[in-house]
Amino acid sequence: MIEIKNLEKTYPSKSGDVVALKDINLTVEDGDIYGIIGLSGAGKSTLVRCINLLEKPTDGQILIDGEDLTKVSKKRLLELRRNIGMIFQHFNLLEQRTVEDNVRFPLEISKVKRDEQNKRIERLLEIVNLSDKAKSYPSQLSGGQKQRVAIARALATNPKYLLCDEATSALDPQTTESILDLLKEINQTLGVTVIIITHEMKVIEKICTKVAVIDHSNVVENGKVSDVFADPKSDVAKQLIIPDLIRATAEKTGDVKLRLIFNGEVTDRPLISALALDLGIAVNILYADTKIYDKRPYGHMVITIPNGDNELIDRVTDYLAQKGINYKKEL
Ligand SMILES: Nc1ncnc2c1ncn2[C@@H]1O[C@H](COP(=O)(O)OP(=O)(O)OP(=O)(O)O)[C@@H](O)[C@H]1O
Ligand SMILES: [Mg+2]
Repeated sequence: MIEIKNLEKTYPSKSGDVVALKDINLTVEDGDIYGIIGLSGAGKSTLVRCINLLEKPTDGQILIDGEDLTKVSKKRLLELRRNIGMIFQHFNLLEQRTVEDNVRFPLEISKVKRDEQNKRIERLLEIVNLSDKAKSYPSQLSGGQKQRVAIARALATNPKYLLCDEATSALDPQTTESILDLLKEINQTLGVTVIIITHEMKVIEKICTKVAVIDHSNVVENGKVSDVFADPKSDVAKQLIIPDLIRATAEKTGDVKLRLIFNGEVTDRPLISALALDLGIAVNILYADTKIYDKRPYGHMVITIPNGDNELIDRVTDYLAQKGINYKKEL
């Protein structure tokens, strides 16, 4: 488990201190694929670099399985770091070394015997599906292949945790999918806990179990992806998760808009047609983006009711409440 407690990071500079992180508290449980999302400059990279102490926190604690990285000796820090692999947006491979020798690098540093090195490299290249490229150089590989090498290298010392800083941001959508599939497979088959930094909602949606939204150095919300997606509360989360909904509800139509929030509740009949039939009213759907996970609906729908008809609005909201559907009145 990774526990981040009251983490602060300030960069001193001539023109004044830059506060990159303010009082961050997060817990990543073993087995999680934990997404951290935010706009550029929010503090995401600083946060992930503090987790393995590549960046020294100004204040606070980083507990890895109960051990505070900010307090341990240099020697112990090096040992603990072997338990935390990391991959980056621009892969950071050693250009002068072949694929297999890139993967070998952390094994040499850890003084693993040559025979054992070879065995592990073979296995790792199988996992990332690059066995045929063992003797190639990074310059001979595509972006997706380079990231696979970086993943194999990060996994070489059998880490329990893998930190990914914008690992797919330099890749096309299809390659992104395949790298995300690989990360999920590594999480599921090797039991590696994964932390993913991204500014892309798609990445969170595809593989993360939990998410923290970071804005201007603060965590503004966090929790299960389905909960945060169903009802994002902060402005930045709304912008990232439901930008079209924000646009739709901002339109001045003169009608009252109700945003229905689906968070896995299952209704006995299709809700909107049931509402129309039971109340005898026609409802306009201004916006809908719902997804089915595990046979349950998640997402949002905005319906409009002609303005001024308070009696009708009450009937609709009573009906929704009766059906256990969460809603918000949008102006
Ligand atoms: N080494 C540094 N020295 C001074 N300021 C820094 C340093 N690194 C980051 N910062 C500042 O800290 C803030 C957070 O930066 P960080 O790189 O963590 O953001 P980010 O969320 O990763 O952004 P991006 O999505 O663009 O990668 C920014 O204001 C940045 O300018
Ligand atoms: Mg960054």
